Amino acid sequence: MKSPKIITVTSLSELRNARATLPEPIGLVPTMGFLHAGHLSLVRQARQDCASVVVSIFVNPVQFGPAEDLSKYPRDLQRDLQLLTSAGVDLVWTPTPREMYPDGYQTWISLDELVKPLEGAMRPGHFRGVATVVGKLFNCVQPQKAYFGQKDAQQAAVIRRMTNDLNFPVEIIICPIVRADDGLAMSSRNVYLNAEERQAATVLYRSLNAARAAFDKGERDANTLRRIMTDTINSEPLASLQYVSCANYDTLIELEAITGKSLLSMAVFLGKTRLIDNMVLG
Ligand code: PAF
Repeated sequence: MKSPKIITVTSLSELRNARATLPEPIGLVPTMGFLHAGHLSLVRQARQDCASVVVSIFVNPVQFGPAEDLSKYPRDLQRDLQLLTSAGVDLVWTPTPREMYPDGYQTWISLDELVKPLEGAMRPGHFRGVATVVGKLFNCVQPQKAYFGQKDAQQAAVIRRMTNDLNFPVEIIICPIVRADDGLAMSSRNVYLNAEERQAATVLYRSLNAARAAFDKGERDANTLRRIMTDTINSEPLASLQYVSCANYDTLIELEAITGKSLLSMAVFLGKTRLIDNMVLG
């Protein structure tokens, strides 16, 4: 067996030196740490596709809103490093907020339309923070490929769009959602759920499946699919629905009828914890 050898760096100059020694193509998996099976599936895909795998761990302050508690975001670097060593990652970069956003920082990547609906409507400024940090990670690591999860469907759409619009020479690879046995999508936020909420949280996947079953039987009316998801969520007393959507997969514009590739998505509160989930149709 190949003995695991992982390089961990913090400063940008260390990153550049270490990056220069790695064989190409390089696959980048950007993360905010507290890794779970979803992240590890991205690493596995990168390992399969690329000669070297770089993982960044950075809890990006500028994608958190004023009401979202950055200091409470779960972190466990030692565990993350163990998992990444076992997964055969070559280089882990843990930049500091100071180096990413030094005093006087004032340059941003913002998109006009894609950030308006869904998560963007609920979390103003969030995607400006995401697009900016991902652009910076691309410039610093200079990967040939970068891996993101379909779980954050709007983030994936934003990153595809901005990579294309700004001509980053990076291939964006979106990997499928990883679910627990009962269907709950893997998320770092799942740790906030108590036992009852954890059980109730399966309602998100159940509601997506209910809409998919109707679609499979021929239902194409978007209002009907949104209603099926809404009714399923509302049938769970611990769940409180924030939004449901049936939208075009690329533009995220709400549909009247499903004619091509479409995205069912939702945000639901279980107690104080906000969960999102989605499914692609067509
Ligand atoms: O999905 C995430 O963990 C983050 O939004 C990302 C892409 C690493 C940017 O901070």
